[in-house]
Amino acid sequence: MSQKVTKAIFPVAGLGTRFLPATKSIPKEIMTLVDRPLIQYAIDEARAAGIEEFIFVTSRGKGALEDYFDHSHELEASLKARGKAELLKVLQATNMDSGAIAYVRQHKALGLGHAVWCARRLMAPDEPFAVLLTDDVILGEPPCLQQMIEAYAETGGSMVATMEVAPEKTSSYGVLDVAEDMGAIVRARGLVEKPPAGAAPSNLAVIGRYILAPTVMQNLHHTQEGSGGEIQLTDAIADELAAGRDVFGLRFRGQRYDCGSKAGFLQATVAFGLAREDLRDEFSEYLDDIRAATSRAAE
Ligand code: UTP
Repeated sequence: MSQKVTKAIFPVAGLGTRFLPATKSIPKEIMTLVDRPLIQYAIDEARAAGIEEFIFVTSRGKGALEDYFDHSHELEASLKARGKAELLKVLQATNMDSGAIAYVRQHKALGLGHAVWCARRLMAPDEPFAVLLTDDVILGEPPCLQQMIEAYAETGGSMVATMEVAPEKTSSYGVLDVAEDMGAIVRARGLVEKPPAGAAPSNLAVIGRYILAPTVMQNLHHTQEGSGGEIQLTDAIADELAAGRDVFGLRFRGQRYDCGSKAGFLQATVAFGLAREDLRDEFSEYLDDIRAATSRAAE
């Protein structure tokens, strides 16, 4: 029986250069899909999976992120006084319990592995933990992390969320070398970060959801710079395999949007806009019009 996972690390200390100039003053995680910041989607997913403690690895310029999680008493009182019950509910759903959130600082963006390692003192030495990258927004039922927690309850070890990508895309991801394919779950033989074109061991790419054995944090004490000159979480997970411990991949059910890229963010905006009952009709009519106008212009 695997140990219960109650802590999650949210590394949010990256520079977000792909969204400059916006990210000069707005943390990427506060950018909104329709009306909810990216971070809220990750928090909701973690809560649904039973996470109780939320650890943010932040950096300079991420103050807006901390403010976002403060209770907004004035706003709540004002909405209450004006009888805006629905909006009040929306606002209160973002409230976090006192003491449930911790912030640690990554002083230099040395890589995802380094960001996770910055949270080491908030972890018990024998405690498995989840890592969620807020760039990856995933529509899934049940939510992706919950699917992973359920699978992990059977497998133990460490588990990464995976999805099949086109062969020409593998060099943008961590990629699994598959030892055993059991359907939804695969057992890994190896794990390589951003393999050069044509050298990927499979087309099963790792995306931003992880359940990690406590030994991964120990591996990070020694992890050297890897792909892109950064300290890679993938390398610390691969060290588990070298030490004879299990790493699994889960082909999660759902749709993942890479909101760390402009194209992915735009796709997610359209998908989430169309998924909203209050916006769907007007928005899809607009999309139809714009498509018709574009194809007329192309003729
Ligand atoms: P990315 O590779 O997307 O980097 O990081 P980034 O800095 O956020 O964005 P670009 O590429 O410059 O546009 C993946 C995740 O790892 C975190 C990021 O915040 C993001 O959630 N990260 C990355 C850190 O917390 N620290 C780092 O040193 C690197």
